[in-house]
Amino acid sequence: MTNILPFATHLNDVNGIIEGAPVLIQRTLRQMVGMYHDETATQQALQETDRLVYEVYASGLPEEDGHILYCTTIIHPGTVGDEYHMTKGHYHEKRNEGEVYVGLQGEGYLLLQTEQGAVSHVPMHKGTIAYVPPHWAHRTVNVGKTPFIFFAVWAGDAGHDYATIETQGFPVLVVERDGSPVLVDNPRWQASGS
Ligand SMILES: [Fe+2]
Repeated sequence: MTNILPFATHLNDVNGIIEGAPVLIQRTLRQMVGMYHDETATQQALQETDRLVYEVYASGLPEEDGHILYCTTIIHPGTVGDEYHMTKGHYHEKRNEGEVYVGLQGEGYLLLQTEQGAVSHVPMHKGTIAYVPPHWAHRTVNVGKTPFIFFAVWAGDAGHDYATIETQGFPVLVVERDGSPVLVDNPRWQASGS
């Protein structure tokens, strides 16, 4: 295991920036083609310009057993068609590893699903501590008009399985109806093995 000496840094809970943390991900709409249910709306938006959907500032700590990783995620406000901006979502490669989220700014939903077909969602705002149990895939969604920002902590050896969600999606979508978030069934969702 990589030897890391004790240290401290600073989290700006207004803008989500962690001092000294590199930007790990800057995910644009073009990089998420196929993940929003309205393909026409996706393509129409991209004809005008690409847009930054979310960004992740990570600790840069080693992804190894024994270390604890952390990051902040900033999901910018907006919709693609009627579907709110969201992260790609993932299972952990090691399915038996959980995660903790702490809401810092804005309004969001945490969507969760298991490979056995269970589905859950947790509303998040500043001060919310949300627990992602082992075996639950997780995706976050900005359902507000300002950036949704949260802090996450997870085990160093958990790993990320994005491919399963890229293929299957989530059983539910979070869409805007009369200005408010609503969960609807995902017509394109394919359960495991189907
Ligand atoms: Fe995770």
